[in-house]
Amino acid sequence: MKLSKLGYWFLPPVVFRLMTGVRNGLRRQRALKIDQVRTDLNELREKGFSFFFDGRVIDRFCDYMERDNALNKPVATRRPENQKYLDELINQGYCVVSNAFPAASIREWHDDLKQIMDAASQRCDELVDLHGQASMQTIQELYLGNRINFHLASGLIRLWDVHLLRPQLRSVLEHETLNDIVWSFFGGNPTEPGIYLEYKNKVDWYEPNTNYHSDSPFRILKAWLLLNDVGSRNGPFVYCARSQYLDDWRILRDLLEFSNYNKKYKAFYAHLSRVELAQLASAFPELCAPERQITGKAGDIIVADTRGVHGGTNLQEGYRLQLGLVSSGLGNVFIGNIPDEIKNLSRDSH
Ligand SMILES: [Fe+2]
Repeated sequence: MKLSKLGYWFLPPVVFRLMTGVRNGLRRQRALKIDQVRTDLNELREKGFSFFFDGRVIDRFCDYMERDNALNKPVATRRPENQKYLDELINQGYCVVSNAFPAASIREWHDDLKQIMDAASQRCDELVDLHGQASMQTIQELYLGNRINFHLASGLIRLWDVHLLRPQLRSVLEHETLNDIVWSFFGGNPTEPGIYLEYKNKVDWYEPNTNYHSDSPFRILKAWLLLNDVGSRNGPFVYCARSQYLDDWRILRDLLEFSNYNKKYKAFYAHLSRVELAQLASAFPELCAPERQITGKAGDIIVADTRGVHGGTNLQEGYRLQLGLVSSGLGNVFIGNIPDEIKNLSRDSH
């Protein structure tokens, strides 16, 4: 055993620290500037958890959770034939409404909208040349007068409010079965949905969404109308059934995500690794099922409560073109828009 190890075990700590201090003082590596520890450990010791966290965040979190549960608890669908979709959505976190639109309408919309997005895809290539894929930026611009987002890592493009460009798409917003499901899911209190056209056509580009995550601690529904057939190689959506319920395994992540500390430390607490999910699924099958790809045909609508853990997959061939709708319940402002009162709590905690 080395002399230094013997010293660690058998000398009094003060003597050992003095000894190593003298030895290392003679051999100091000045270029590393190791004395400049940016985190003040004394402050951490003094403040304990309040070094990281403002306790008021917990109160706010509980208030919002209670509000979501009180105002947005599901009620029965208005049409009895739609109840099976709602039951599935509540129980497993997603459901699929097959053949929601006639094939002829879907084909017509597909051909028209794909042209729009193929042109936008060229702009995406220019932006990638300019900023690099590795920047992982999302660039927002105006396109045909509407907001458009380019995700430079995956090449995914989202064109918002596309119904303003093509009024016939209002029929998606007015789809009876979908509206019945959404209305009932939020206890009759859904917000106006946001609508976007989404195009993914960059084969084998890195997809950050393969990191599985939850969108929000609160009820949130996303619905996608597929405009082309999506098989396992066309970047299908992935969902872990039953992971949408509030439970001990996720409450700390939800709290951290809610608090906006994720932005402060650049940590995404709502993300879960596949190993964590696999262990959760095998230990608590009633709370989480192994991830499942949700493939579908053009004209199908996939509806998911994206509180549940979900993600994307790499596009291996072809493309994926779909219309997306996002709805939340009354009082939920947590879709990319955390109120200042919460932001400010986490901003100046130390
Ligand atoms: Fe998501």
